[in-house]
Amino acid sequence: MLLAMSTLIASFGVTILFGAPYVGTNKRDARNMLEFARIKRGESVLDIGSGLGTIPIVAGCEFGAAKVHGIEMNPFLVVLSRIRAKRAGVEVDISRKNAYTAQIPRADVIALYLLPRMMDRLKPQLASKLDPGARIVSRGFQFSHISPREVKTIGNQHFYLYHAGDLM
Ligand SMILES: C[S@@+](CC[C@H](N)C(=O)[O-])C[C@H]1O[C@@H](n2cnc3c(N)ncnc32)[C@H](O)[C@@H]1O
Repeated sequence: MLLAMSTLIASFGVTILFGAPYVGTNKRDARNMLEFARIKRGESVLDIGSGLGTIPIVAGCEFGAAKVHGIEMNPFLVVLSRIRAKRAGVEVDISRKNAYTAQIPRADVIALYLLPRMMDRLKPQLASKLDPGARIVSRGFQFSHISPREVKTIGNQHFYLYHAGDLM
């Protein structure tokens, strides 16, 4: 029991050190992000730091996304998000990986809810692996020194839209 608790606490601590702590996006904000990115049925979606998988699940269930991926470092969140996706009846591929070293799969829409330092560190990977027209939608935070193509505020939430080609 003590070992399980220590592992749980350590896994959350490690993700804070590596990039961003877990703070979830609710379904309404996930919908707003995906609508802002103008996702179309059949497109692929990637959430980097996918947490409990809400954005990938909403993409698959409500927007008809064809391939839905998540990359998440915290093994507990990976297990829980896979269970949630299964219960929602949506096929989501969640990789338990460190985003800094993971292969970034090609996607039409990339969702980010990460601290700016993590966004900036991922910039070269995103620029080199994604198609220039891939849409990157970020909740709450912006890349340094790059102007977003569009900004949308809904309630107290700010969303930023980029194209992968803007990061080069
Ligand atoms: C603010 S949460 C966002 C979760 C989810 N995208 C959402 O909006 O509900 C950031 C997530 O990134 C994960 N994370 C932090 N650093 C990471 C890294 N280096 N590689 C993969 N995931 C990471 C954390 O474990 C956490 O689940």
